[in-house]
Amino acid sequence: MGRRDLAPEDIVRYEEDAPSVVLLDQRRLPDEIVELRCRTAVDVAAAIRDMAIRGAPAIGVAAGYGLALAAARGEDVDEAASILAGARPTASNLVWALESLRDDPSVERARALHEEEVERCRSMAAHAADLLEPGTRALTHCNAGGLATGGYGSAVGALRTAAERGLLVHVFVGETRPLLQGARLTAWELETAGIPHTVLADSATASLMAAGEVDCVITGADRIAANGDTANKIGTYALAILAAHHGIPLYVVAPTSTVDLATPTGAAIPIELRPPEEITARFPARNPAFDVTPAALITAIVTELGVNRAPYSESLAAAAA
Ligand code: MRU
Repeated sequence: MGRRDLAPEDIVRYEEDAPSVVLLDQRRLPDEIVELRCRTAVDVAAAIRDMAIRGAPAIGVAAGYGLALAAARGEDVDEAASILAGARPTASNLVWALESLRDDPSVERARALHEEEVERCRSMAAHAADLLEPGTRALTHCNAGGLATGGYGSAVGALRTAAERGLLVHVFVGETRPLLQGARLTAWELETAGIPHTVLADSATASLMAAGEVDCVITGADRIAANGDTANKIGTYALAILAAHHGIPLYVVAPTSTVDLATPTGAAIPIELRPPEEITARFPARNPAFDVTPAALITAIVTELGVNRAPYSESLAAAAA
């Protein structure tokens, strides 16, 4: 029998006794299942910055619990919010979650936000699976599964739903240099779900597409600008160009908490530069964590509300109204 699916509280939760935020340390997966206990909002911010928890919706959920922890400890909630918001700059979910808890930084509200994000995943997964044909061989990048959303997953959630409907034949998983979220986390989640998958070196994608082995590319997002330009894990833009060249659709699956209508275009999305040592400690290195895929290369943006098509400036605004 395979490993059981992770429950949302296995990924991140709040514990009232000796108040703390407990999260599955994603840096250790898949080799070790180790939890990290954060006793202050500063600890939660460090866990987000150091990527013990990662993925746009999951860091929003963790920040929400971190704010609730600060409030429970009688700390300055505004200061805690500012420390948590500064942990990682690209994903809009972080600030969105903190704003959502501004008037009520209670544990109950943080838990509700977590539950709502998982529900959003289930809805968007159902909408995205409607786009897939029977016999689909999909390619995904980074990790947009339950680990990245606090439960079920966005792009991987769509793949799970498609598999349950009998539409999915295979998933190719880009390994996702330098931290290997694809090879470590997505492959682990697909294994648990019993979905046939193959990990690829990121550089193997072009020839696989040329060989006609990929029917669609499906990814999550960290921030979607008002015009549909989308920031996601570094390498997504290259995949989008390759997909367009080979006539393969690219679907972005993300909750409305990732859509940031206040950011007009991708040019205004802050791109996180991570420590060069994540690539090499021996030579000079540059380590942008994300890139921006222009809206023109995206076939559809799927949220919990449904499928958005270009022009995204109209469809996303209408969905938000
Ligand atoms: O640097 P990470 O691992 O936080 O990057 C995560 C991604 O790029 C995901 O694709 C994105 O957050 C969507 S998660 C549902």
